[in-house]
Amino acid sequence: MKNELALEFSCVTEAAALAAYKWLGRGDKNLADKAAVDAMRLVLDRVNINGEIAIGEGEIDEAPALYIGEKVGAGGEPIDIAVDPIDGTRMTAMGQANAVSVLAASDHNGFLHAPDMYMEKMIVGYEAKGIIDLDRSLEKNIISVAKVLDKKLSELTVVTLLKPRHEEAIKIMQDMGVRVFAIPDGDVVASVLTCMPDKNIDMLYAIGGAPEGVISAALVRAMDGDMQARLIPRNKVKGKGGDSEETLRIAQNEIERCEKLGIDVNRTLSLEDMAKTDEIIVSITGVTRGDLLDGVSRNGDLAQTETLLIRGKSRTVRRIHSTHFLSMRSEELRKIIL
Ligand code: FBP
Repeated sequence: MKNELALEFSCVTEAAALAAYKWLGRGDKNLADKAAVDAMRLVLDRVNINGEIAIGEGEIDEAPALYIGEKVGAGGEPIDIAVDPIDGTRMTAMGQANAVSVLAASDHNGFLHAPDMYMEKMIVGYEAKGIIDLDRSLEKNIISVAKVLDKKLSELTVVTLLKPRHEEAIKIMQDMGVRVFAIPDGDVVASVLTCMPDKNIDMLYAIGGAPEGVISAALVRAMDGDMQARLIPRNKVKGKGGDSEETLRIAQNEIERCEKLGIDVNRTLSLEDMAKTDEIIVSITGVTRGDLLDGVSRNGDLAQTETLLIRGKSRTVRRIHSTHFLSMRSEELRKIIL
């Protein structure tokens, strides 16, 4: 994949973040998401690639744009694209920290085609590569990670999502003496923080979305970290309806989708199963200010964004601060962002 594409992809997530900003704190996560999707698609269609959406906003019949299998780009080399126009739609709607717009790109067939269901994820940075094993207990993994990092359990920090389904895991970790950062939403940001050596987060353990999981796998691979994951049918996720008829129907549908995609739902997925190549570029732009990135700020015609641009092949993480003169944007984009 050509290096020049990286800058083009940063323009895509910047446009989506600018569009999301319009709906910041307005209480409607769907309008924020739609604006980000529209902006992302518009700018993506200008990039010189033969792109195909591998992870997107859903199947063709449930998403008007950026659906799985959709062709994007203005023509060029074949590239697979995984997008989350906003990771943290609720945070955007409620004006909370850490919402981002993210795009990961790889050579054709570089990503696992995972259905939109829950995924159990464990991530570590490069210093603990090769240590985690999701088939062992959380406690054993934590002890192994502490050992390889030469840290006491009390010096270890694990990030997770603050969700009822994690109550037990959070208690186990805190009882072990581990420091737990439980953030409300947004496991893509949490994945990056785990792989950044200067952020002092040693591990991520969470059950979140599978699409976000594949995007995380892309950036973990690009940053030389490690990840294991397991897809979880809805009826097995605590607090999501148990064995109710509706939940069992959703779970059955998820299992069938996995079968169609050739994924064994019981198998633990390695990093390489999910992100199959080092030819990966990930662009993440802050929507709201957070632990990783500044959010969008605007003053009249001027807007500022901050983007992290990660390239797997060269293992480079770049931070880009951009100033946008919004009146210079195309009329189509201005309609979405202003
Ligand atoms: P959205 O932006 O789509 O709301 O996703 C936010 C998020 O926290 C993801 O990062 C995470 O993987 C998922 O939601 C968790 O799902 P749930 O909201 O059902 O707990």
